[in-house]
Amino acid sequence: MQNIYSKLPDISTTIFTVMSKMATKYGAINLSQGFPNFAVDPMLIDLVNIAMQKGYNQYAPMAGLVSLREVIAEKTNTLYGSTYHPETEITITSGATQGIFTSIAAFINPRDEVIIFKPAYDSYEPSIQLYGGKVIPIQLSAPDFTINWQEVASKITSKTKMVIINTPHNPSGSVLSKEDMLQLEKLLKGTDIILLSDEVYEHIIFDGQKHQSAALFPGLAERAFITASFGKTFHITGWKMGYCLAPKKLMAEFRKVHQFNIFCSNHPMQYALSEYLKTPNHYLSLPDFYQKKRDLFLSLLKDSRFTFSPASGTYFQLLKYTNITEEGDVAFAERLTKEHRIASIPVSVFNLHNQDDNVLRFCFAKTEDTLKQAAEVLCKI
Ligand SMILES: Cc1ncc(COP(=O)(O)O)c(C=O)c1O
Repeated sequence: MQNIYSKLPDISTTIFTVMSKMATKYGAINLSQGFPNFAVDPMLIDLVNIAMQKGYNQYAPMAGLVSLREVIAEKTNTLYGSTYHPETEITITSGATQGIFTSIAAFINPRDEVIIFKPAYDSYEPSIQLYGGKVIPIQLSAPDFTINWQEVASKITSKTKMVIINTPHNPSGSVLSKEDMLQLEKLLKGTDIILLSDEVYEHIIFDGQKHQSAALFPGLAERAFITASFGKTFHITGWKMGYCLAPKKLMAEFRKVHQFNIFCSNHPMQYALSEYLKTPNHYLSLPDFYQKKRDLFLSLLKDSRFTFSPASGTYFQLLKYTNITEEGDVAFAERLTKEHRIASIPVSVFNLHNQDDNVLRFCFAKTEDTLKQAAEVLCKI
């Protein structure tokens, strides 16, 4: 074979892999990639074991175990007052990433435009590009990452097929307000634009704020795919389990792709999650659990030379370092890993033209000990 024509010629290894590898190489405390370093609830592990013993070892139904879809319908109804029918409007996915990919694959055709907000989770763009779609990026800036809805209005054209939002937002830790969602609802009214609402951190929101799910707004819910992640909610990112909500007509198209993409996701884990979700406290306790970690981390950093505004949601905290160095964020993140043995994520890699706001993203989904060790290092810089 002489030539291989890449469909994604500009894509290289993700920054998460790069930084985690570097963290291992230099024996650094790894606050780069977003995964917890504490134990999973043993009850959840036992439930998987029970499921395997009970014989849940063959293919699950294509859209997911009925009992899991039922408990998700109940949860969504209780939290957001929305009624997603378990049979036709909820699909269990192999992580939110698959839900995102499948929503895009089902609808994006060559030259369709998709509006995304940068910094953005790094799976959106290549998924759009694989189907020939055109990414229309709107850059948000530190420290507030607020959306200028007039700018969004100016980017909507007859070719706009989809808008992707993410709240609570990775990497900034910001959240969309009710007013934001109402503005978006107004903008999309009367159009056929699909909304992809990435809500993987729906249960990680702080200071008494309420998560503004697209499910709460009828004009958004009628056009929305909402993606969720059990990985984020139950500290099991390695299980790659999630789900997707959408009105029946949209979900029917989603499933046409889903059935040939993965057909179904992991069966015993679906059984375990269906039982575990019956106790709402397993997810309702999350804001408190993570707010304690955020507050501990920030209280330990109060005398450092980093500056910050506390994250409103997610388990990421941005730290600005202009009091320390004029280096670019990639160079500084690399130096921190090699010289100070602490790994973070430089936010510019998620930005349009690598806009550098001189902020690094630190994951605080870590044990108290790890956070204390990390803060000790950061305070010396
Ligand atoms: C904003 C966002 N969306 C989606 C995902 C992917 O979730 P999952 O691991 O369930 O595929 C992540 C994971 O980091 C994320 O931060």
